[in-house]
Amino acid sequence: MTVTYKHEPFTDFSKNENIQAIKEALVFVNSHLNKEYPLIIGGERITTSEKITSVNPANKAEVVGVVSKATKELAEKAMEQALEAFETWKLRKPEARAAILIRAAAILRRRKHEFSAYLIKEAGKPWSEADADTAEAIDFLEYYARQMLKLKDGVPVQSREGEQNSFSYIPLGVGIVISPFNFPLAIMAGTAAAAIVAGNTILLKPANSTPVVAAKFAELLLEAGLPAGVLNYIPGSGAEVGDYLVDHPKTRFISFTGSREVGCRIYERAAKVHSGQKWLKRVIAEMGGKDTVAVDKDADLDLAASAIVASAFGFSGQKCSAGSRAVVHQDVYDEVLEKAVALTKELTVGNPEDAGSCMGPVIDQNSYNKIMSYIEIGKVEGRLMTGGEGDDTDGFFIQPTIFADIGEKDRLMQEEIFGPVAAFCKAKDFNHILEIANNTDYGLTGALISNNRDHIERAKEEFHVGNLYFNRGCTGAIVGYQPFGGFNMSGTDSKAGGPDYLLLHMQAKTTSETF
Ligand code: SER
Repeated sequence: MTVTYKHEPFTDFSKNENIQAIKEALVFVNSHLNKEYPLIIGGERITTSEKITSVNPANKAEVVGVVSKATKELAEKAMEQALEAFETWKLRKPEARAAILIRAAAILRRRKHEFSAYLIKEAGKPWSEADADTAEAIDFLEYYARQMLKLKDGVPVQSREGEQNSFSYIPLGVGIVISPFNFPLAIMAGTAAAAIVAGNTILLKPANSTPVVAAKFAELLLEAGLPAGVLNYIPGSGAEVGDYLVDHPKTRFISFTGSREVGCRIYERAAKVHSGQKWLKRVIAEMGGKDTVAVDKDADLDLAASAIVASAFGFSGQKCSAGSRAVVHQDVYDEVLEKAVALTKELTVGNPEDAGSCMGPVIDQNSYNKIMSYIEIGKVEGRLMTGGEGDDTDGFFIQPTIFADIGEKDRLMQEEIFGPVAAFCKAKDFNHILEIANNTDYGLTGALISNNRDHIERAKEEFHVGNLYFNRGCTGAIVGYQPFGGFNMSGTDSKAGGPDYLLLHMQAKTTSETF
C-alpha cells in the first residue's frame, strides 16, 4: 500500500480503448443477467422462496438479477452471526482489517468496468457516472483503510508523575447499514467499509432497486479475505427487516443513507430503549438536500449555465447533492436562464447502455410518478422553459426540465424532487441570494458562481451548507478531498470520506495506571 492516498482517476471515454473496455464489460453483464443471488449470513449462502427482482430502469422488461429476500427470522439469524463474529473481528489487528480493504480495492480496480457495467444496467447510470461511482467505491476502501491506521494507536494524552494514561478507540458492535439506490456501489461500499474497518460487524440491507451490485460487492469482500459473519448481506423490506433490526436490542448503531422521511423514522425508532438493550443506539444518517447553484452579478455566465445544468441533470438529478435550484442575480437572470436552457436542449435522453453519454432514466415507477407530479406543480408555480415530458413505456425516462420564475418559498424551491427538474429563482441582490440559498430545511451542498472576492468570502461565512463550492457545480465530492455531508435536515452532520468519519463507528476508552 502506498502511504499517500490519491483518488482513483476517472476513465476517459473519448478514448477508443476505454469505449471497447466498457462495451466488453456490458457484453459480460448481458450474459449474466437474470441470475439468482442468495443472502449471505455468517458466510452461508441462503436462498429464500420470496425474491426481489431487480430490473433495468432503462428497459423494464430486462431482469438484471433475482435476489433472495430476508425475513425477520433470517434477520435474527444474521444478527446472531454478526454478534458472534464481532467477538473475534474486534480483536483482529487494525492493520489486518485495513489490509482486507486494500485488497478489496485492488480487486475492484481490476474489475472496474464490470462493476460499472452493472451500475449502467441496474441503476441506469451513464457511463461516466457509473465509472465515477466505481472509482468512489475504490476511494472509500483505500481512504478508510489508511484512516484506520492513523487511529489505531489512539491520541496521546498527558500523564503525571507515577501514572500512565492512554486514550484509544474501540469498535461499537453490530451495525445495520442501509444503503441507497443512487450510489449503489460507492455509498454502499463506503458505509460498509467504514463500519467494518473500525472493528464492527454489520448487516447490510441495500436498496431494493439495486441489490445485485451489492451482492457482487459482498462476494468481492469475501474474496478479499473478510471473515464470515463480518458482513451479512440481507436485502429485504424496510417495513419488515429494516424496522425489526432498527428496533433490535442488540443493534449498536445504524448507518443510513436515503430519504429524509425514512431517516427521521429511523432516528425516532432508534431512540427507544428496548428490553435487554444496554446502550443508546448511535444513528449516522445522510438524508436529503435541496441544493442551490447561486449566480452573482459579476460572474462567468457560461460557467454558471454549465454548472447549473451539470448539477441539476447529472444522473437524472438523483443525487442528494443535485443542484435543483438556481438562484440568479436579477441583472444576469435572463442571460443565464437562456444559456442554461440552450445547454439543456442539447442533452439527449436514452438508454445509457447504447449511448453512454446520454441522460438515462430515473430509478423506478414510483420515482417517475413523483417527479412527473412535481412537473405539474412546476407548471402552476412557474414558466416551463424546456422538458416537462416523460415516457414510461419501456423505461422511466423524463426530459431534463427547467422552470423559470419560481417563487423562493414555492414547493419547487423547497421540496426534494430527486429527478431532472431545476427551478430558477430571481434574486434582487447578493444579500437576497444568500437569504434564498439558506431558506430550506436542508443544508447539504451549494455553489456560488462569482468573481467578487468579497462575496466569496461572505458566502464562506454565511452560506450554510456542509459542502460549499465556488465557480463549479455542487455535485461530485471526492473522497478524502471534499468530505461529504450536510447540515440541518440533510442528516446527522457526518462527513463521508472525511478524517473524522470512522470515529462515528467507534467509542473512546481512557486507561490510567498508577505506579
Ligand atoms: N457524494 C456525492 C456528490 O458529491 C453525492 O452523494 O455528488
